[in-house]
Amino acid sequence: MEKTQPAADVSLAWFETMKRYWGMDPQQFAFGLMSRSKQITYENVGLRDPDFLAGVTRWFAAKQRALGYQVDVANPPPPMFTPFRLRDMQLENRVVVAPMDQYMAVDGVPTDWHLVHLGSRAVGGAGLLFTEMTCPSPEARITPGCTGLWNEAQAAAWKRIVDFCHAQSKAKLCMQIGHSGRKGSTQVGWERMDHPLERGNWELVAPSALPYAGDSQVPREMTRADMDRIRDEFVRAAKYADAAGFDMLEIHCAHGYLLSSFISPLTNLRTDEYGGAIEGRMRYPLEVFSACRAAWPEARPMSVRISATDWAPGGLPETDLLALARAFKAAGADLIDVSTGQVVPQQKPVYGRMYQVPFADSVRNEVGIATMAVGNITTADQVNTIVASGRADLVALARPHLANPYFTLQASAWYQHPGQSWPLPYLAGRDQAYRVAQREREDWKAGREALKPPTHEVKGGAARRAA
Ligand SMILES: Cc1cc2nc3c(=O)[nH]c(=O)nc-3n(C[C@H](O)[C@H](O)[C@H](O)COP(=O)(O)O)c2cc1C
Repeated sequence: MEKTQPAADVSLAWFETMKRYWGMDPQQFAFGLMSRSKQITYENVGLRDPDFLAGVTRWFAAKQRALGYQVDVANPPPPMFTPFRLRDMQLENRVVVAPMDQYMAVDGVPTDWHLVHLGSRAVGGAGLLFTEMTCPSPEARITPGCTGLWNEAQAAAWKRIVDFCHAQSKAKLCMQIGHSGRKGSTQVGWERMDHPLERGNWELVAPSALPYAGDSQVPREMTRADMDRIRDEFVRAAKYADAAGFDMLEIHCAHGYLLSSFISPLTNLRTDEYGGAIEGRMRYPLEVFSACRAAWPEARPMSVRISATDWAPGGLPETDLLALARAFKAAGADLIDVSTGQVVPQQKPVYGRMYQVPFADSVRNEVGIATMAVGNITTADQVNTIVASGRADLVALARPHLANPYFTLQASAWYQHPGQSWPLPYLAGRDQAYRVAQREREDWKAGREALKPPTHEVKGGAARRAA
């Protein structure tokens, strides 16, 4: 019951919000309808009706071609392998390495660990890589191991990483800047996450003096002077990110960190113009975003990561989510990176595969802005399903990239896609990977055939229909 009902629910939601898809071309509309409940995916449609899937793939490639991208329409790539542009930044494909804190910085300076971590994922073929949440001041850090961007040494260390990725791959790099707010001064991810440091704590600030959990430090309510200082620190970090050569900048407004806790009605109890209705609660995050936008080069894109729901009673309603996305769009955001939750410890998320995609869908198709989906997306098939159905433009994978930096290269072999760039020293591996993947696909198809009902039943059905 617990599995069937949510599946039926997402299907129901599709019909309830069908109006938002009316402007889509018939191929995308039809594919979206079929894949609405997550049971039928891109590959699955291909097993049921190869001609239909070929039509959707061809249509998607032709659409990208019409938008001005170099896409082979005669031999169309799967949607995940089509390029995508934000301002002057063009990505090779739709796969993104999601931001992932490594807790390995020393005094905020990224180390060789970060070079190898990001470098190998750049070489692994993803179109876009996010840095972990990087903090504009020492007090903005979540943990003592978080990266920073408040001095020259940090900017120089980031530049080394960016330069390597640019020289050795086609990957673009996005710097994520964030301030921890009331979730700061805590232990690293593999210790007691979100719990205070045992010693060496620093003062926390937040929109309201509410601790995160029972044993959390109590933050101080921010004054206007704090707001000015922290906004200026974000701008300083944006300028260092520019100097380090990043292609894109993201402002982290999700997961209960400082800017997120302004947005959520559960964590912002202010009675001044920075609290109250959504217009007040998003005022300071928008101010920070706009100040960074003004400092960040016009030709380079910016995104915002948001928590689209708090998964808790009294949390952010959908109307506020849409108002928030509209306001960031008007302020010059090019992409909304749609995550959820982690705002309050009493959250009750409904997990499942691709569980946050409906929020990316809602923002993209209600507000008319590019979105990035993230959260329990683990296969190339799911990436294709999300992109082909127009639920998001980019698809970010976090944990799958920890286990497998070469996710995208392996997917290019699975689809026998010739257009994905591989590092020159790895070309011999590419040829073998394509051969092995072809055999695996044949075995997979044969296995699927074997699972089909016995032919006499099918014949029986046909005979009945004929009669
Ligand atoms: C180790 C780890 C560190 C993370 N650090 C960040 C971070 O710095 N900034 C952020 O926005 N999200 C962070 N996240 C969240 C991921 O970006 C992503 O939204 C989440 O893990 C869900 O995606 P997944 O199911 O593909 O892992 C982190 C996730 C993991 C697993």
